[in-house]
Amino acid sequence: MKRILALIFCLAVSSALAQKFTELALTPPMGWNSWNKFACEVNEDIIRAMADAMATNGMKEAGYQYINIDDCWQGARDAQGFIQPDPVKFPSGMKALADYVHARGLKFGIYSDVGYLTCGGRSASRGHEFQDAATYAQWGVDYLKYDWCNHEGLTAPGAYTTMRDALLAAGRPVVFSLCEAGHSQPWLWAQDVGHLWRTTGDIFPVFDAVADHKTWMQCGVLPIVDREKPLRGAAGPGHWNDPDMLEVGNGMSESEDRTHFSMWCMLAAPLISGNDLAHMSRATLQILNNQDAIAVDQDALGIQGFPYATNANVEVWFKPLAGGDWAMCVLNRNPQAKAFSFDWQKEAVLDPLARRDANFAGSTYSVKNLWTAAPAGTTREKLSVEIPGHDVVMLRLQKVEAAAPPR
Ligand code: GLA
Repeated sequence: MKRILALIFCLAVSSALAQKFTELALTPPMGWNSWNKFACEVNEDIIRAMADAMATNGMKEAGYQYINIDDCWQGARDAQGFIQPDPVKFPSGMKALADYVHARGLKFGIYSDVGYLTCGGRSASRGHEFQDAATYAQWGVDYLKYDWCNHEGLTAPGAYTTMRDALLAAGRPVVFSLCEAGHSQPWLWAQDVGHLWRTTGDIFPVFDAVADHKTWMQCGVLPIVDREKPLRGAAGPGHWNDPDMLEVGNGMSESEDRTHFSMWCMLAAPLISGNDLAHMSRATLQILNNQDAIAVDQDALGIQGFPYATNANVEVWFKPLAGGDWAMCVLNRNPQAKAFSFDWQKEAVLDPLARRDANFAGSTYSVKNLWTAAPAGTTREKLSVEIPGHDVVMLRLQKVEAAAPPR
């Protein structure tokens, strides 16, 4: 009896102590992932080319860090159960590939799934969680995206907590990305389990549509943005809502790509690019590398933005930033251009979640347009702009004059 009690005590203590790596992803993770562009056609040459591109095209300096391989890298397990990479696609092995990525000052990510098989039908981690986590640590993995296909008989909190504990036991700090499409509402339970959790079905490069394939969904940019609106309370340093990886450069118009990127920044979303970094247009790179927009995403407060007002399908979003600044993004959901005006003096922008009041009557802010980099006056003058269809005007407001002290 004493032994049983001691065992229960030990288990209780170890589960109370169990946690994720807490010092990671204090701002939303930034990087690249293979899935949106290459799907199952991924191989080590592609991964090396993406690492080379990120290290030399300004993305690394802009804050992008992770080079993540998604599904379909896996081969069979060996006789002892250790996972092997597909020998045709990854002949040099994962350790060599991770070394290549690390040598460029970047970090290396990988993908697995809670079931016996991944969504793409490759070997997954069920029953091998601790063995896989130890293998990843040996290879030098820094980021794990962990999917939810073939999850029969599992609960999401149970399955993801098992892998969290396995990663922790393996000892190498790993950003843990939960990918279960929001079915179990991970924003309610996963804060101590992962660093980010998917909130929706899979993104596709379409601005305003949903494709329902019955067993899975594809969601465009606007339906995903709408899905994020009620979830903002769950986001913060170390635990982010993940509206899925970026489709910038994968076929939408330049306006739509700019809007997609801006809104992900307003949402404090992970910025995981998903295009071919070795072959992209100047316009695509300029969107991905917009330092002013990225600064909104990476703001130290880590507060997800919120829709403040909507009129004629034009939405006005605000995001409180560190140091008393605000980001504002005016989203034109219409395909046609719309005139937009905003008289700051008549608006009351309050954020009860962040306990912030813009107080435009008492404080003056300078206004900077984050896509043209042009100063756009101050909040003393009314803003009047025309916004092209499916485009945004994204601004940063910086306080220039404190409110007069009360007499
Ligand atoms: C799921 C995920 C995608 C991708 C694929 C891989 O659909 O949501 O992001 O990882 O699996 O098979």
